[in-house]
Amino acid sequence: MICFLLNDQPVRLNQVPPHLSVLQYLRGHAVLTGTKEGCAAGDCGACTVVIGELEEGRLRYQAINACITPVGSLHGKQLLTVEHLARDGRLHPLQQSMVDSHASQCGFCTPGVVMSLFGWWHAAKTGQGGADRHSLEAALSGNLCRCTGYQGIVLAALDAAKRMKAERA
Ligand code: FES
Ligand code: FES
Repeated sequence: MICFLLNDQPVRLNQVPPHLSVLQYLRGHAVLTGTKEGCAAGDCGACTVVIGELEEGRLRYQAINACITPVGSLHGKQLLTVEHLARDGRLHPLQQSMVDSHASQCGFCTPGVVMSLFGWWHAAKTGQGGADRHSLEAALSGNLCRCTGYQGIVLAALDAAKRMKAERA
């Protein structure tokens, strides 16, 4: 049996095929289709989700490619998808900043981009990572965007991080 949290809901799965990917599970079984399939080979980042797990007593979030991650590896962890970010009808600050900065055109890459940003944001917020441009570019290095380009995305994320730090000061 595989047990994990899907966003904030506990999930128990019996008899999981060893080849079932997290992406196949999300889109085909959980019907959470915000996570996109592009290359299905770990190269484009369209399927990016965030995995939460405890490390030395601290919750650590890490962005991963759902298309090359087996569901069996989720046991004891939290799987966060793009559907989790908006709360009470309000976009997450990163999502709002993407809108304000016109950082999306066709939108196909956007859920994956936002989830990579969310992993970076959480690390910065919890003191496990930086909120600087260098760490941001590293966090986005697996996400391809074919139509908008990256400048708007980078500016959106840096702006959201700046506001987050100002609110905490
Ligand atoms: S669909 Fe391209 S990395 Fe997963
Ligand atoms: S917004 Fe079209 S691929 Fe990024």
